[in-house]
Amino acid sequence: MSDLISTDDLAQAVDTFLAALPPQRRWDAEHSLDWAAADADHLTDGQRSAVEFVTVIEDHLPGYFDIYHRRFPVDASVDPAVFAHHRELYHFTVRWAAEEDTHARALARYQRSSGMRQRAELRTDLAGYGRQPFRLDGYTHPVQFFTYALVQEKATQIYYRQLRADITDPVLDDLLTKLARDEARHFTFFADVVTRYLRVHGDAMAAPIRDVVADFRMPLADIRGYWRWALRIADVARYDHTDAYEHLIAVVDRAVDHRTDPIDELLRFVESCRTVTTIGGPR
Ligand SMILES: [Fe+2]
Ligand SMILES: [Fe+2]
Repeated sequence: MSDLISTDDLAQAVDTFLAALPPQRRWDAEHSLDWAAADADHLTDGQRSAVEFVTVIEDHLPGYFDIYHRRFPVDASVDPAVFAHHRELYHFTVRWAAEEDTHARALARYQRSSGMRQRAELRTDLAGYGRQPFRLDGYTHPVQFFTYALVQEKATQIYYRQLRADITDPVLDDLLTKLARDEARHFTFFADVVTRYLRVHGDAMAAPIRDVVADFRMPLADIRGYWRWALRIADVARYDHTDAYEHLIAVVDRAVDHRTDPIDELLRFVESCRTVTTIGGPR
């Protein structure tokens, strides 16, 4: 248990996350959007490409989910105390996975309903990407998984917000609003957990968090054609994970009562990793 936070501490974060979305505010891909009105004729080529891109990212959920199973197993390979911790985390992970699966499903449904793609063709295409492995190699500390997700959720939320700004199809506008709201809630959970790790383990978190930032790669950054694709959609909205770094800095800064040298150094490092040149001007 020594590198984890206590089960009670984690359970509080999970409880807060699960309570944050009342049943009446939940949505799904089947009932919550006006699919009959979806029309990709409203979209530019860049916007279509961006929708395809985020569909691939969201559809890679099995890869992300599998990482949590492997790192936080809920079986006899761990002792009862660790099991109890992982079981609490699992309450979060399954809900989070269900929401991400809804994202994948809704984006795919949008592509079909709006006339972008046929179902079978899209399914085949997504299977090609989905089979490619997603790895977070080299992580030795649990806080690294939560830090990675904190950055990724915030970067995705920012991206959906940017993409939405110029969209004239009301159905896609509605979908992107829902997606951004969910990612914001996911970010809040991971920010809460990282905060708890900092409060419990203090300076010992500086190096593991630093390593996440030093090696950060967006999911699927290794797939063939990723960077060409990312560039093609760059004029629509910039997908840059370093946009999330100011939020990571704020989380760390708020979590620590007083700045120590290791934390100062960490924050300077994260700041130095932010992309300074912005494509498409200031936002
Ligand atoms: Fe998502
Ligand atoms: Fe998310």
